[in-house]
Amino acid sequence: MKIFLDTANLASIKMYNDMGLVDGITTNPSLLAKEGGDPQKTMEEIVRTVKGDVSLEVVSTETLGMIDEGRRLQKYGKNVVVKCPLTAEGLKACKILTSEGIPVNVTLCFSVNQAILSAKAGAKYVSPFIGRLDDNGQDGIHLIREIHEVFQNYKFSTQILVASVRHPMHVVEAAKIGADVVTLPPDVLGKMLKHPLTDIGLKNFLADWEKLKKENPNIRI
Ligand code: E4P
Repeated sequence: MKIFLDTANLASIKMYNDMGLVDGITTNPSLLAKEGGDPQKTMEEIVRTVKGDVSLEVVSTETLGMIDEGRRLQKYGKNVVVKCPLTAEGLKACKILTSEGIPVNVTLCFSVNQAILSAKAGAKYVSPFIGRLDDNGQDGIHLIREIHEVFQNYKFSTQILVASVRHPMHVVEAAKIGADVVTLPPDVLGKMLKHPLTDIGLKNFLADWEKLKKENPNIRI
């Protein structure tokens, strides 16, 4: 399972990238707005910082506009994936950009049927938003299970990019199903890393080592 970070925050991207945990990045206009500053510069820097795929989203709602924006975004770097919305216009843009060798992530997917159509349009990734489905009283993880089953049936090459992830259990469930990618807000990745028993265990090991040092002042590792 690949781990992407769902953020435009450069400090978090650099921190987790230095740990070797970041396989890619997803951004969207809301995430860029949250960081403020010049969004173009931020996108360029993210593309330079991370080796893996970086999804950058179009803001046009018409096919020609999306294609135009997608071509411009792709110039930021070879690892750019153009994010198009799951609309009729977006799927048409997906088909054309894909035929030009520009990979597409179809975003705002909320149903199996939408995922099937994204695969048919040639998307590299489809992004089902599970947290927003949960918020809406539906079962986001169940959608991932269904899309995975259908994609397996037909050997679709489109990768399932689990988005709108809210907590570490979403990650566990997505991994058990076999989703290709999860994109995580940095705080969810931070929560995956931490366990109180790790902290307690380390504290005890260090305390015992201090005891040993009192008996053997010259020891070192
Ligand atoms: C995916 O690419 C989106 O950026 C993202 O996961 C949206 O999640 P949200 O529901 O937390 O805004």
